[in-house]
Amino acid sequence: MEIVFATGNAHKISEVSELLPEGIRLIGLPEIGCPTDLPETSDTIPGNALQKARYVYEHFGVNCFAEDTGLEVYALHGEPGVYSARYAGDDKDPAANTRKLLDKLAAHSDRSARFRTVIALILEGREYLFEGIVEGRIAETPAGDGGFGYDPVFVPEGETRSFAQMSNKEKGRISHRGRAVVKLLDFFQS
Ligand code: IMP
Repeated sequence: MEIVFATGNAHKISEVSELLPEGIRLIGLPEIGCPTDLPETSDTIPGNALQKARYVYEHFGVNCFAEDTGLEVYALHGEPGVYSARYAGDDKDPAANTRKLLDKLAAHSDRSARFRTVIALILEGREYLFEGIVEGRIAETPAGDGGFGYDPVFVPEGETRSFAQMSNKEKGRISHRGRAVVKLLDFFQS
């Protein structure tokens, strides 16, 4: 089976690829001639996931899935949430986003947070949503050079290491994205 993964983010492609069983091949947007900077202007995570998947389905007529992810920090009332990518500005700089987050959290003792991913699948015109969540906390200082985005400061529940200190496989077993992908695979199998 082949399915289009509607993302321009190479990290997401490699994380998801490692979770798929043999027999499912991901097709990237360049392979179908689609630009990789898909519109995502919704103010919700599922809204953005659906917007990206619909763009590809409507313009290219192929079954596909897209995902959107947000980091939700409890002491900041869910910030940065759906604005995670542009938290510190439109240039989507992960280091600046992380610095802003650490600065804002400095005044708080509660550092609990969660990552939330929603996958939107469009299959023959029908839409399905799958959600994955991982709880954890924001570390005081970044650690590790794996992963991407906020990974160096996110320590999942039950762990002492940040996501950036784990391999893709280790992260995928417990991550928001990994959990959403498991639900997507269960759907394909059923
Ligand atoms: P988007 O889902 O590509 O819009 O990502 C939103 C923001 O969250 C971006 O700043 C990403 O770098 C960040 N992000 C998404 N997924 C992850 C992840 O698995 N770990 C760390 N940061 C992530």
